[in-house]
Amino acid sequence: MNIQNYVIGNWKMNGNWETNAKLINSIKSNLPHSLNNSSTKTVVCVPYIYLIQCKGLLNNSIIEYGAQDVSAHENGAYTGEVSAGMLADLGCKYVIIGHSERRVYHKEDNELIADKVNIALKYKLIPILCVGETLEQREEGITNKIVKQQLETVLQSIQNSEQKSNIDNIIIAYEPVWAIGTGKTATAEQAHTVHAYLREIADNYMHKSPSILYGGSVKPSNAKELFNMLHINGGLIGGASLNTQDFCDIISTLN
Ligand code: 13P
Repeated sequence: MNIQNYVIGNWKMNGNWETNAKLINSIKSNLPHSLNNSSTKTVVCVPYIYLIQCKGLLNNSIIEYGAQDVSAHENGAYTGEVSAGMLADLGCKYVIIGHSERRVYHKEDNELIADKVNIALKYKLIPILCVGETLEQREEGITNKIVKQQLETVLQSIQNSEQKSNIDNIIIAYEPVWAIGTGKTATAEQAHTVHAYLREIADNYMHKSPSILYGGSVKPSNAKELFNMLHINGGLIGGASLNTQDFCDIISTLN
């Protein structure tokens, strides 16, 4: 299997003009040298308002940039929203969709998330589709059922749409909600079991097996063990992506 590896930073709602410039510049100068010859891609997903700043800072860099959400609508009277066309217009290539913080705080359901993935594909963006169970769901023993619903609703919808031929552009991120920002990481085995299951489902819909990233308290100290697993193709990194040393150390574990 030749599957693309990624380390993607999700800055969430952090940073300002000054700290962003410091962070990007120090990541650029501390990136492992091996990255130039490696197949691992590095991406930072930043707040909308700083996309243009990051585009400038990352000009001629191997680091790419993306957004953290997108509107499900193409254009029109949707005050405060940002469309896939606008992101594409800016040269943005990636967009996180269905993050648990959007699902919980903004009541996004699987159908809305499928619409967002659809419109992102239409504008040739690469959607990073997040799935994951809560602690209660894991304890109830319904992790597989939940992630299956989350993934299949999207893949079925894309398969039945005009974006069918772009379905292979989707990246999947498994982010157990109980591991996000809590310091609790899924063990490599726990994560791997879910990744293998997600791959089995994805392979029923996609022609090319997708990159499946793990997210949830990834740190330099646990990245190697996670990334060594067959079905884990890198990470979606929150807190640690805001620290140059940690982010670069995580990237070097994949190189
Ligand atoms: P943390 O790495 O801070 O746990 O966040 C993970 C995450 O939500 C990435 O999208």
